[in-house]
Amino acid sequence: MLSKKIGIDLGTSTVLVYVKGEGIVLNEPSVVAVNEKGDRILAVGKEASEMLGRTPGNIQAIRPMRDGVIADFVVTEGMLHHFISKVCGRQRIFKPDIMICVPSGVTGVERRAVVEAAVQAGAKTAYLIDEPLAAAIGANMPISTPSGNAICDIGGGTSEIAVISLGGMVVSNSIRTGGNKFDDAIANHVKKRHNLMIGDRTAEEIKIAIGSAMPLHEELTMSVRGRDMVAGLPKNQVITSTEITEAIQDQLETIIQGIRVVLEETPPELSADIYDKGIVLSGGGAKLRNIDRYLTIQSQRYQDERALVDLTVSELQRDLQRVEDQTRIAQQDANNARQGAQQARSAAQQAQIQARQAQNQAQQAQGQAQQAQNQLQLAHGQAQQAQNEAQQANQRPHGAQDRADEANQQAQQAEDQAQQAHNLPGTN
Ligand SMILES: Nc1ncnc2c1ncn2[C@@H]1O[C@H](COP(=O)(O)OP(=O)(O)OP(=O)(O)O)[C@@H](O)[C@H]1O
Ligand SMILES: [Mg+2]
Repeated sequence: MLSKKIGIDLGTSTVLVYVKGEGIVLNEPSVVAVNEKGDRILAVGKEASEMLGRTPGNIQAIRPMRDGVIADFVVTEGMLHHFISKVCGRQRIFKPDIMICVPSGVTGVERRAVVEAAVQAGAKTAYLIDEPLAAAIGANMPISTPSGNAICDIGGGTSEIAVISLGGMVVSNSIRTGGNKFDDAIANHVKKRHNLMIGDRTAEEIKIAIGSAMPLHEELTMSVRGRDMVAGLPKNQVITSTEITEAIQDQLETIIQGIRVVLEETPPELSADIYDKGIVLSGGGAKLRNIDRYLTIQSQRYQDERALVDLTVSELQRDLQRVEDQTRIAQQDANNARQGAQQARSAAQQAQIQARQAQNQAQQAQGQAQQAQNQLQLAHGQAQQAQNEAQQANQRPHGAQDRADEANQQAQQAEDQAQQAHNLPGTN
């Protein structure tokens, strides 16, 4: 157990080093001054921070951590090396075990980069812990109990929001908005409103001196020195806390959105715990005036809105249920009607078939009647013929008679002529 156990909060703004048994032994800004080429570290921490924005051309003071992640790997490694050496001494026989906290939203690649940097900087073994978990342990929250513990760590580059229960994070969200974004918003505001260029450090000083998340009862003011954008000369300008409150509203809204996302995803049982216990704030950003009141009011408003939304949703669900019931009944009616129509259609089809059969039978009967009529006509014809023939047969003896009568007449005539002829000489 001769190797030291070290905990490092590798923050965007500040690096904190804790040594087991000794407490926090180092608290320095995460700034590194490097030479022009960037291959030699000239100063680290406080010393380098003094140089920020004031460096000559051959020196650059940089923040190797940006948005909570390693932006410049080599410089981060150099910075870690410097701090570990400061804590453990340059000549060390036993390498330390190091635990480093990282934002909960970092990717696997980013995690490996941090471990690699720690090992390169002299760690025997490097472990990672999620920032919100480390913050909750640091705040003495009862995270190992089966109850919801909500924490919101507002750092320089990131804000981490998490709900922890039974020693693990149940829901978490990491947003890349923190104190630095407030500084940017303040610098932009001063530039737009007062035509005054100010540096990051001045913006941070304004935030710390007069910044507030909500308007203050007694407005604070501060005289700020910067470069006039029109004249290009140094200028003093008085700035009020109300202006700063307005300037940082968008960033505060982003943090509230981040909290909302976590609260929305939190299981109901844990939500109830959070409702009772509240959210613990940590990180440098949480020192902003009235940020606790602002977040309480905003999340309360959100909870009220959510309750209203829940109510509306349940009403809509009831309406939907009613509509569904009505639809089901209408569907049943439609089905019945369809069945009725189907039955009517098959009855009509059957009737049609029967009508067709009846028509066929009628046609058949008509054909038979026609046939019978034909046969009758034929019989008639035959009868007529027979009658004619009978008549002819009847007429035939008459003819003979007539011919006999004619012959008789002719014979009479001949006799009469003969008589006449006979009589003629007698008269002579
Ligand atoms: N009194 C204060 N009022 C407002 N902001 C403050 C105050 N003190 C410090 N800060 C801000 O807190 C931020 C630094 O917080 P912290 O040291 O927790 O960040 P970090 O851990 O380095 O960053 P991260 O967690 O994002 O990696 C800076 O933006 C700083 O300006
Ligand atoms: Mg931090």
